[in-house]
Amino acid sequence: MNKIDLLLGLQWGDEGKGKVVDALTPNYDIVCRFQGGPNAGHTIEFGGKKFVLHNIPSGVLTPGCVNVIGNGVIIDPYILKGEIEGLQEAGFDLRHNLKIANRAHLILPTHRALDAVNEKALGKMKVGTTLKGIGPTYTDKTARKGLRIGDIGSSNFKEKYNNLKQNHLRQIAGYDFDMESLRLDGMAFAEYEKAWLEGIEYIRQYEFIDCEYYINEALDAGKKVLAEGAQGSMLDVDFGSYPFVTSSNVIAAGACSGLGVAPSRIGKVYGIFKAYCTRVGTGPFPTELFDETGEALRQNGHEFGATTGRPRRCGWLDLPALKYAIMLNGVTDLMMMKSDVMDDFATVKVATTYRYNGMETKHIPFSACTETMQPVYTELPGWNQKIEGRIPQKLEEYIQFIENYVNVPVKFVSYGPDRTQNVWRK
Ligand code: GDP
Ligand code: IMO
Ligand code: MG
Repeated sequence: MNKIDLLLGLQWGDEGKGKVVDALTPNYDIVCRFQGGPNAGHTIEFGGKKFVLHNIPSGVLTPGCVNVIGNGVIIDPYILKGEIEGLQEAGFDLRHNLKIANRAHLILPTHRALDAVNEKALGKMKVGTTLKGIGPTYTDKTARKGLRIGDIGSSNFKEKYNNLKQNHLRQIAGYDFDMESLRLDGMAFAEYEKAWLEGIEYIRQYEFIDCEYYINEALDAGKKVLAEGAQGSMLDVDFGSYPFVTSSNVIAAGACSGLGVAPSRIGKVYGIFKAYCTRVGTGPFPTELFDETGEALRQNGHEFGATTGRPRRCGWLDLPALKYAIMLNGVTDLMMMKSDVMDDFATVKVATTYRYNGMETKHIPFSACTETMQPVYTELPGWNQKIEGRIPQKLEEYIQFIENYVNVPVKFVSYGPDRTQNVWRK
């Protein structure tokens, strides 16, 4: 049976998914997103040009590839319109190679307002969301109140929109929150709402599909399909460091519900991780470094958010967390990213266990907490040289240490942001 392959982030997001999906796309006919929304920022670089995608799958820069925004994704039409127009200006016409699932939910301007309201109400306990309305939109989806892409075509769409908007405004009125001073992408609410409604009109020119039939029939016809995850396993709503997580299932199981494919139809699961760790937003991060090594990772790796520009928190590679993510996703092939960032490190460290409640454990506890989890590190020699097309011996030893720990082969090593800066190992 022809199967769909998955590419998933195994850490806290920003592992380099966009780059790898773009690099793999020549082998695929269709690339799909299955969850998340414009909280994602997937960067692709080639020929000195840089693109950052939020809603659109990363296959879009490869001519001939069809890109599907699946039913599990949530869409802000204003952001999507801007993204499509930006790509058009750069010479990529998406009218024939972008399809949108009827069942994908819409992020309303008031969902974004609610995101800001919730974060303000949490005070010090705030999640540090991207403020794109992710939590409130998925909340409405599961509460059976949401609006879907397919609703855009109905004659009473405006009425449905207004009903949900009023519902949200009633919720917001219960908080100490000033809608007048709210800014959404620099705009006051009314201005943003106008631009959002223009976005709704704009995306009507794209094909809305029943994604479950489209993908399964494509697989039956022998097409090669790749699903592109957003975020990373440690931000999964079930298995991440709850409540400091996103609001969707970002793990392999999410691809089944987010596209309408059965578990038996999943083929390869590419799991991607950085040679170290980063995280944006609040929440536990046991291997976080607050010293000059953390700063060196941030500067060498340009670790600033692709969506929000926030500095990313940086730390050593966390092997118990990586192994956990590999287990949750059934990863078959590992891909290691950004190894070049530690090119000039004399030594590198990896966490192999945690000290937690007076015991040593390799398990991620129910309530992960940086304060009570002390990582135990193994120190390894650095490779201390540039990676130009071949893997230095000491880096090879670092990779083998990881492989021995997690029992899955590292097939691909990335050593720079350009789509060509990769080595296939085996
Ligand atoms: P994504 O969200 O997983 O797609 O990752 P992001 O695009 O948010 O962040 C990854 C960043 O690292 C981007 O700026 C990429 O251009 C860059 N990048 C990807 N792979 C490499 C690599 O191997 N080395 C370096 N130095 N940068 C990389
Ligand atoms: P990509 O796909 C890194 C983080 C936010 C916050 C938490 C919840 O580029 O890897 P949300 O807006 O989803 O409600 O925020 O999740 N977050 C990401 N961190 N990369 C991402 O996406 C992220 N998407 C959400 O910073 O901590
Ligand atoms: Mg990103």
